[in-house]
Amino acid sequence: LNLTSDCTLQRLSHLTNLHLFDCGKPDLNEFLKDDAINYASELLGVTYLFTLDSNPNEISCFLTVSNDALRIDHFPNKIRRKINKEIPHAKQMRSYPAVKIGRLGVDLKYKGVGSPLMDFIKGWFSSNNKTGCRFLLVDAYNEPDVLKYYQKNDFQFLLEEEDEIQKDRDGNPKPLRTRLMFFDLIHLTPAN
Ligand SMILES: CC(C)(COP(=O)(O)OP(=O)(O)OC[C@H]1O[C@@H](n2cnc3c(N)ncnc32)[C@H](O)[C@@H]1OP(=O)(O)O)[C@@H](O)C(=O)NCCC(=O)NCCS
Repeated sequence: LNLTSDCTLQRLSHLTNLHLFDCGKPDLNEFLKDDAINYASELLGVTYLFTLDSNPNEISCFLTVSNDALRIDHFPNKIRRKINKEIPHAKQMRSYPAVKIGRLGVDLKYKGVGSPLMDFIKGWFSSNNKTGCRFLLVDAYNEPDVLKYYQKNDFQFLLEEEDEIQKDRDGNPKPLRTRLMFFDLIHLTPAN
């Protein structure tokens, strides 16, 4: 399936048929079916889908995005340097404008569409940047396949694994459910 030639981008609406969609993760399927519309009406996140031109009732993949910021003032110097490395000194800030990919899923039938989907997202937020938006951010599920997917698509970890681990009230490390990853959109602007 070719995402750009065989599918059409749509904003989620009450008319979208969501019942066939299955990305293999029940929580994401349920988010799409039960919550995504409410997120959009509360202005908290907008969901977009690619439907098949050959069958508009079928969804190949979806994403939910919202405005975010990459705040680096409370991070160690090492992390700040990693983020600031591509930003001219005079323009360095404590917080940079970003878009959060809150949810993203590819239907199991259309595996392989995930990377073209990420190319689309990068292009969408870097061409005709309507508001300043420097970074894509994602709280990636801490699972080998998911991390590999984002790494393959040039996302980097913001923090080392040990720096992301939080402790519970008894001081025991909590399982790390997600890893914060980022992509710098400057790489896609014409001058770069
Ligand atoms: C993570 C996810 C988005 C990746 O999407 P994807 O389409 O599988 O990603 P890719 O485009 O990278 O393709 C993955 C692999 O499938 C392979 N592939 C391509 N077409 C395929 C097909 N028809 N059948 C099986 N595999 C196929 C690709 O070669 C690629 O292999 P590689 O990683 O060795 O290069 C998807 O697996 C998914 O929706 N997972 C569940 C939801 C989820 O975890 N979302 C992330 C939340 S943070």
